Amino acid sequence: MKILVTGGAGFIGSFTCKALLERGDQVVCIDNLNDYYNPKLKEHRLKQFEKNKNFRFYREDIANAEKLKEIFEMEKPEKIIHLAARAGVRESVKHPLLYEEANLKALTVILELSKNIKNFVFASTSAIYGDSKEIPFKESQVIGATQSFYAVSKLAGENICGYYAEVFKIPITCLRFFTVYGPSTRPDMAIFKFTHRIFHEKEIDAYGFGKLKRDFTYVTDIVDGIISALDKGLKFEIINLGNENPHEVNYLISLIEKNLNKKAKINYVPKPPGDVDITYADTTKAKTLLNYNPKVKIEEGVKNFVEWYVKEGSEFFPPDSIQK
Ligand SMILES: NC(=O)c1ccc[n+]([C@@H]2O[C@H](COP(=O)([O-])OP(=O)(O)OC[C@H]3O[C@@H](n4cnc5c(N)ncnc54)[C@H](O)[C@@H]3O)[C@@H](O)[C@H]2O)c1
Repeated sequence: MKILVTGGAGFIGSFTCKALLERGDQVVCIDNLNDYYNPKLKEHRLKQFEKNKNFRFYREDIANAEKLKEIFEMEKPEKIIHLAARAGVRESVKHPLLYEEANLKALTVILELSKNIKNFVFASTSAIYGDSKEIPFKESQVIGATQSFYAVSKLAGENICGYYAEVFKIPITCLRFFTVYGPSTRPDMAIFKFTHRIFHEKEIDAYGFGKLKRDFTYVTDIVDGIISALDKGLKFEIINLGNENPHEVNYLISLIEKNLNKKAKINYVPKPPGDVDITYADTTKAKTLLNYNPKVKIEEGVKNFVEWYVKEGSEFFPPDSIQK
């Protein structure tokens, strides 16, 4: 099977490419290696595929319709996993137009080329639930006010997918990921920031006094869900992929301290506007439709991340490069 993975140099994308190659698929990866964070980390992730004959990489912007058409004509992908996007809630409030281009225009460009595709998987997010008090979050609940342009762009993305599934009969599954982490996670994520700053003996800010809860989900569990959705080819579904087991950020910090064997210097600060108290996935639908069964406990996952950071991750980021 020839699978196109967009955003394949990204965190979740690189794990997805690896899993597909390991089971014998051919992978075509498109990524523009943008500088939302150090592109050297993206190049580093891609290095593992360099010698694999079943892997081809194109450095292109998905929003470039002409270039994308050329790639589709050359490669003729059978299925698509669309992970490329501008991620990051806070940045989206400052730069909505960048998010509009990467998350909406690019999605429309690729869906226009996907009318004969066997199956399309779209990366959505738990951020669309906003500060919902209805927990755990269910796919069927009414979505209230969203807290960021990022969430708006992903919610609109799901609607765009719904339109293409309805009108052009493309089988599409939208997966709402919950706080994904693991080795080589994005450096704007709390686990990376905290580890980096505790390692360099710098202060960290714990928003909401460290009491905010997140449904931390390990990257290989997410990839299992993505590949299951790819194989099933459901008509049109929106499905949560989380861990159904939220933890306080204070607990995350304590695990990082333990694994680094260093004490954190913590500023306890109030929750900034736009941040939510809790994310918590109801994964009943994922279990039923995708046989989804997350396996990695947070204690093991954080250990894996910290080991990766100490061994190879820190080299991409000078001590002062990551803000509190
Ligand atoms: N990491 C999480 O916790 C999380 C949670 C919910 C949803 N998601 C979604 O999962 C997907 C992957 O997230 P990630 O954490 O791996 O992020 P990431 O930033 O590491 O990966 C995204 C990749 O897409 C590429 N990209 C962005 N815009 C592009 C464009 N216009 N053309 C080509 N390439 C482009 C980037 O260079 C990057 O390598 C995203 O869609 C994100 O919104 C992630």
